[in-house]
Amino acid sequence: MKKTICIAFLILNSSFLIFAEEGMWIPSLLKALNETDMQKLGCKLSADEIYNINKSSLKDGVLQFAGGCTGEMISAEGLFITNHHCGYGQIQAHSSVDHDYLTNGFWAMNKKDELTCPGITVTFIVRIEDVTSKILDGIDNSISETKRDSIIMARGKKIEKESTDGTHYNARVKSFFYGNEFYLFVMETFKDVRMVGAPPESIGKFGGDTDNWMWPRHTGDFSLFRVYADKDNNPADYSPDNVPFKQRYFFPISLKGVQENDFTMVFGFPGRTTEYLPSEAVELIQKVSDPIKVKARTARLAVWEEDMKKSTEVRIKYASKYAGVSNYHKKWAGEIRGLERADGIKVKQEIEKTFMERVSKNPEWSKKYGTILSDFETAYKKLTPYQKVLDYYSETINAIEIIKFANSYRSLIDTKPEELAKKLEAMKAGEKAFFKDYNSGTDKKLFVAMLKIYYENVDKSMHPDFFKTIESKYKGDYEKYAEKIFKKSIFSSEGKVSSLLNGYSADKAKVIKNDPAYILAQSAFGFYGSIGPQYSVLTNEISRLQRDYMYALKVVIPEKKYYPDANSTLRLSYGKVDGYEGRDAVEFNYYTTLDGVIEKEDSTSSEFKVPKKLHDLYEKKEYGQYADKDGKVHVAFIASQHITGGNSGSPVLDASGNLVGVAFDSNWEGVQSDIMYDGSQVRAIILDIRYALFVIDKFAGDTQLVKEMKLVQ
Ligand code: ARG
Repeated sequence: MKKTICIAFLILNSSFLIFAEEGMWIPSLLKALNETDMQKLGCKLSADEIYNINKSSLKDGVLQFAGGCTGEMISAEGLFITNHHCGYGQIQAHSSVDHDYLTNGFWAMNKKDELTCPGITVTFIVRIEDVTSKILDGIDNSISETKRDSIIMARGKKIEKESTDGTHYNARVKSFFYGNEFYLFVMETFKDVRMVGAPPESIGKFGGDTDNWMWPRHTGDFSLFRVYADKDNNPADYSPDNVPFKQRYFFPISLKGVQENDFTMVFGFPGRTTEYLPSEAVELIQKVSDPIKVKARTARLAVWEEDMKKSTEVRIKYASKYAGVSNYHKKWAGEIRGLERADGIKVKQEIEKTFMERVSKNPEWSKKYGTILSDFETAYKKLTPYQKVLDYYSETINAIEIIKFANSYRSLIDTKPEELAKKLEAMKAGEKAFFKDYNSGTDKKLFVAMLKIYYENVDKSMHPDFFKTIESKYKGDYEKYAEKIFKKSIFSSEGKVSSLLNGYSADKAKVIKNDPAYILAQSAFGFYGSIGPQYSVLTNEISRLQRDYMYALKVVIPEKKYYPDANSTLRLSYGKVDGYEGRDAVEFNYYTTLDGVIEKEDSTSSEFKVPKKLHDLYEKKEYGQYADKDGKVHVAFIASQHITGGNSGSPVLDASGNLVGVAFDSNWEGVQSDIMYDGSQVRAIILDIRYALFVIDKFAGDTQLVKEMKLVQ
């Protein structure tokens, strides 16, 4: 009897009580929620020094890079650092067979050599404000989800407008806790961003996909960019007259390194977590969605890899797409494994059991929350077949480049005559961008592989019409069908698309409408469009339930400290430098060194090559001021902060707010933490900032960049 109570208590404890390290906190609420806790863990800063809207504070040094990553200012002249894998798209875009910056790296030895990055933006947070009462005033569950959404949208727009009228700022109201709270973010967005430096892949992506999501890690995952402003220090479109932006705050860089148990915090823009899902949702992810996505991407990557190995041109064209697809491919595989190991479904069921026990003892709660869990069950049961089809569709049919590209021409057909000229300009730019990174031979192989996967795995009743054509007209010969489409369609040829666009007028619409790839795209997208409404009914119902469940969890299980799921807004997480026991008898140390890079060196593998210069520096121990007390160059370390995708490039700060590292990954044992955080297994993988400095100074010899920075001992 005693034993069972003990076990029940343990389960309760581990699933409800938050580890100090769990959570991604809203910077404007640190004073109220976290300051005491942080200082207890060793933080020497006040909440006010971290986030303040009236004077400069740490938050001013943090930026969102290109909408999906984080970066941090490290000089008074607009210089910032982010990850190599965040700058990768830009490094790739500027690369060609003649200027292969992926392979060789890129360093602007003076500001004139920096490369402009059209379309890339950098956003700083000016202020954050709780606008929940303004948004939700008078709204309850008696109105439909669609109505609710439209009221919230309209109120949000109004608040955004009022908060930025007469300024050059932009603003967004964002939902937190699944629509239970709303916050306004006023932002300043810069559009002239230039590439300053990037190490070769053999440093910046060392270990490649083999080491990705893994600890121990030896990747110098950083790149450098600079923000430019007009002469009044305001955001402006690119101009050669622009000057380096002077931000209110930039981070001093510590040369001291970190020790085990040191307090550290991460400031950045985590993208998406879902920590409060019901067990049915976890089951759907673990058993249906993730396995489908992993299977389809395994096939996609194999097709791409084959061609990338054969041709430098194809390798450069597909490098960035490949990295993106493979990154999530591996993440989902790790997520399945992690959820299985952690018994994720059961952990959620335990929480639900406690929830229901408490709810059923309280008549008021019973009335309000009594059916949430059974409604979830019903809704997920109905959703699962649709989800399965849509997962297959998005990872197979929608992965074929020619189909997506052809479909984008529908908007050209629909363009009103008075808007045609402008539309054509945009289409021409889109066409250039598409073909710059496109190889039709590769896409043709993918076409066959993807359609087969869909055909073999999805119920016939869920096949778009073109599958009937393949069966009847082509006797199921996918190669023959592909041959025909790619030969007849204009969308596989840059020359044909560009001549269509150059001489385009409304009467040419029939060229598009009769194109076989376009017809196929219409059949595919039309089909998914037709199941969209039923799918939306279910996802709307689930959104409502998730909102109610989130609210109810806080009421019914109040002993837990709740933090909002990540939603690409600025957050702070904190923890300590810490190793972990990853498997039975396997203890991981908290840092790696250059010695480990040399240990992993394999000149026959594209992922583990070491540049000769780096090897020489290692042999001669030419480490300058960047070696640790132990005489070694430290490459990376791990800490217990809670981070996720979007935190890539985030500043990792010591107790005094100095920059000690740049976050760049999570570990394999902790990949499931977006859905189920487990403090004993989850670690943020962080580039030791001294390794970046060593590479910039000693490897690239770009010493004037280091001079711009503020180094502290
Ligand atoms: N796992 C890292 C992240 O999601 C990205 C690492 C990119 N590297 C690679 N080899 N694909 O932030």
